[in-house]
Amino acid sequence: MNMKKNSALYSTLAEWWPLLSPPQDYEEEANLFLDLLRRNCHPLKHVLELGSGGGNNASHLKKHFAMTLVDLSPQMLAVSKKLNPECEHIVGDMRELQIGKQFDAVFVHDAINSMNSEEDLLKAIQTSARHCRLGGIVLMVPDFFKETFKSSTHHGGNDLDSKRLRYLEWQYDPDPTDSSYISAMVYMIRDGSHPMIVESDQHVSGLFTQETWLRLFQAANLKPELVPIPHSQANQRLAILGKKNRIDRYGISKNFSSRFESYPSSHGCASKNSQS
Ligand SMILES: C[S@@+](CC[C@H](N)C(=O)[O-])C[C@H]1O[C@@H](n2cnc3c(N)ncnc32)[C@H](O)[C@@H]1O
Repeated sequence: MNMKKNSALYSTLAEWWPLLSPPQDYEEEANLFLDLLRRNCHPLKHVLELGSGGGNNASHLKKHFAMTLVDLSPQMLAVSKKLNPECEHIVGDMRELQIGKQFDAVFVHDAINSMNSEEDLLKAIQTSARHCRLGGIVLMVPDFFKETFKSSTHHGGNDLDSKRLRYLEWQYDPDPTDSSYISAMVYMIRDGSHPMIVESDQHVSGLFTQETWLRLFQAANLKPELVPIPHSQANQRLAILGKKNRIDRYGISKNFSSRFESYPSSHGCASKNSQS
C-alpha cells in the first residue's frame, strides 16, 4: 500500500495530541454530527470513521452506536485506543481501504482536509461509498471550501500532569488558483523538568469548491447535499452529506429500504481491537 507520509503531529508527536486538541472540545460538534446522522440514517447501529485520529469525536459518538476507527497513523490510533478501548481500530489509508464490510454510515471529519488533490479526494469519497450500505449515508466535514476560506491564526494548548504544550497555527493560501492551502504549526513542548522543545509542521490541506464536492459525490454514486453545522464558535460551517441510493438500469436513483441492506447486527465492534 502506498502510505502517504504523515506530519510530525500525527507521528512522532502523536502522544501530545490530547494537549493540543482535547476530547472535551469536540462535544458540541459531535452532538451536531450525531443529530445529522440520526435524522438521515435508519437504522444507525455501526459507523465507520475514516481519519479518526486521536478518537476525540468517537469518544462522544460511541455512546450511541458501535464504531470502527481507521487512521493512517498507528501512533494516533494508539492515542485513540486509550480513549476508546471498546472500539475497533484499524490502520489504513482512506484512499485505498478495503475492509470488506459495509456500515450504516461513514463519517470523515477534518481528516478529509488531508486530501489535497481532486484525485485523492475522489478516492476517499469512493472508499466511503464502498463501505456504506445501500440506504446509508456518508458525512464529510472539511474545515473549508474555496468559497469559505479565510486566512487566520490561532493559538492554544494545555497542561496535563507534568506535560505542557502551546502551539501557534497560521492558515494561509499562497496560491488561490490551486486546490490547497497551508496550515503551518509551531509547537512548544515541556515535558517535566526537561528543557523546552520547539517543533514545527506544515500541512498542505485541500481546498475545493462546493461544486467540486457535489460533483465528486455524484461520481461515487452518492446523492449529495450541503448541510449547515450550526456550531457556536464557527460561522458558515458546512458539511456534505451523501445518501447511497440504488441506481436502476435507467440511471435513476432510488431510495432503497434499509431493511434489505443492513449488514448483520452481530457485526458490532465491542471490545475488538485489530492492528495497531
Ligand atoms: C486532525 S486529525 C483527526 C482528529 C479527529 N477528528 C479526532 O476526533 O481526534 C487528522 C487525522 O487524519 C489522518 N490521516 C491523514 N491522511 C490520512 C489518510 N490518507 N487516511 C487515513 N487517515 C489519514 C492523520 O493520521 C490524522 O490522525
